[in-house]
Amino acid sequence: MTKAFVVGHPIKHSRSPLIHGYWLKRYGLDGSYERIDVAPVDFGDFLKDFPSRGFAGGNVTIPHKEMAFLNVERRTAQAQRVGAVNTLWIDDGVLWGDNTDVAGFMAHLDGSLGTGWEQEVETALVLGAGGAARAVVAGLQDRPLKRIFVANRTSSKAEDLVADLRPGSPVGLETSAWEALPRVIPHARLIVNTTSLGMAGQPPLALDLARAPRNAAVADIVYVPLATPLLAAAAAQNLRTVDGLGMLLHQAVPGFRRWFGVTPEVTPELRALILADI
Ligand code: ATR
Repeated sequence: MTKAFVVGHPIKHSRSPLIHGYWLKRYGLDGSYERIDVAPVDFGDFLKDFPSRGFAGGNVTIPHKEMAFLNVERRTAQAQRVGAVNTLWIDDGVLWGDNTDVAGFMAHLDGSLGTGWEQEVETALVLGAGGAARAVVAGLQDRPLKRIFVANRTSSKAEDLVADLRPGSPVGLETSAWEALPRVIPHARLIVNTTSLGMAGQPPLALDLARAPRNAAVADIVYVPLATPLLAAAAAQNLRTVDGLGMLLHQAVPGFRRWFGVTPEVTPELRALILADI
């Protein structure tokens, strides 16, 4: 039997076991995927010990993603760019780390907007400068866009993100002041919220989308609620919307493939299963 885990602290709210449990059943695999609560002081030992405990690998969540990044032996290019690892596996005795939020966000965007969507997008705007923003910018950077603006309430964090991800970037990376958003929005054909604004219990992200380009797309990585105030405002302007649930589901695909050897499908049934749990 192949075993995988999700490790975090706390961990009981993770939806990853539902996702991987669904796929294990769907593909009739002899495997397990379990939650493991590990305090930060014990995480180094956990990384050393998990293979001898019979695990093929697993997911890493808050607060261990940076620690995992620092302690893996090899990193994918995506993990390297983001500076955080959310997926671990062993290959030939070597501990690898990936950041699957990058591929997860892009797979969901391609699925929602249709491949080739970049042909119409010169300028993208990413709101936020945390780990999720880094993953989104790292993904968008691989596409034929002209420029990406990053705007964050705390401007120094946007400047750090741009400084880290700009070297070698074929796409122009620039910061935009939060207060300047009304001037950037009319140029942005893709707008992505990676802040926690709009999440249940948080204030909404109040963007004036009336002057957004007519064919702009608006993506939110918040998925509780699924219809965030931002996506509702975008829909009211007849803009295309991309909800946050798809990123959660698609980011799980590469890990499952590594541990269990099957490329799993993000089915409508899986979406419904997670939606019922939200
Ligand atoms: P994640 O890893 O999910 O990206 P994070 O690193 O905590 O999470 O980042 C949260 C993001 O939401 C940050 O960009 C944060 O802005 P600051 O860097 O200024 O803190 C943003 N955010 C949270 N609350 C906000 C608010 N009330 N207004 C604007 N931005 C907010």
